[in-house]
Amino acid sequence: MHVPVLLKEVIEGLALKSNDNFIDGTFHLGGHSEVILKEISPKGKILGIEIDKDIFEKAKEKFKNEKRIFLINDSYANLKEIDFEEVGGILLDVGMSSWHIDESKRGFTFKKDEPLNMLFSKDGMTAEDILNNYSKQDLERVLSDYGEERKARKIAEAILKQRKEKPIKTTFDLINVVKVVLANNTHSYPKIFQALRIEANKELDNLRKVLPDALSKLKKGGRLAVISFHSGEDRIVKQFIKENSLEVLNKKPIVPKAEEVRQNPRARSAKLRIIIKK
Ligand SMILES: C[S@@+](CC[C@H](N)C(=O)[O-])C[C@H]1O[C@@H](n2cnc3c(N)ncnc32)[C@H](O)[C@@H]1O
Repeated sequence: MHVPVLLKEVIEGLALKSNDNFIDGTFHLGGHSEVILKEISPKGKILGIEIDKDIFEKAKEKFKNEKRIFLINDSYANLKEIDFEEVGGILLDVGMSSWHIDESKRGFTFKKDEPLNMLFSKDGMTAEDILNNYSKQDLERVLSDYGEERKARKIAEAILKQRKEKPIKTTFDLINVVKVVLANNTHSYPKIFQALRIEANKELDNLRKVLPDALSKLKKGGRLAVISFHSGEDRIVKQFIKENSLEVLNKKPIVPKAEEVRQNPRARSAKLRIIIKK
């Protein structure tokens, strides 16, 4: 089950009022939205955007009797084109969910032997396409920029060598290539998978695109909360704040308390920034 990250901090930070409307740009199964729905009762509405069709179907079923939640299967990157009333708050809790790891069978984790898909939607290049088609330089860039992998060049070389013999199709195929370079140091595996996932889903481009559009959907005094899990994502939010001289709730990002990380290790690298629209 996916446990919402920084739930209390998000609710307090957004400071929504009764009858405010709200946009959840990364709805999943509404872990945050369920609580927010109470905060904005009795009339406040929620627009929930979820890119993953499988998750979207589950969410629709879960909230089928909830008249104040409106769900759409789309990317938050298209927020500008999505018609909804002015809102008091927006949440972007970016990246994947526990469901992707535990149940999707799309190769999001090195712990299971699955096809290297790693896509949230049908659009885009799968991780398999990336591994078997990108140039050495592009693979090195992905691994180094999004995975902070010091041996990115060596891994890229090993991938090219391997794919000449046989295409890399599954998570274990990939591990068999990288483990030689990394001398079985499994520490780097999650970062390599993270890097491919970010590239496949164009996650940083999407975040860069949505921030100005999210700001323009907020009413005056409304708040935009972004939870990121990767330094590249947090940098994008930080730069956006600086470049537009935006007002923020906290100068430093809000991070989970030790107790939350103990109970939910996924929260470990979470950073929450809250922007207030002037
Ligand atoms: C970290 S989970 C959100 C969890 C949710 N806040 C909760 O606590 O229940 C991120 C969700 O956003 C979805 N997602 C990822 N990229 C997206 C995008 N570009 N547009 C819309 N949804 C996206 C994922 O499929 C996933 O369900």
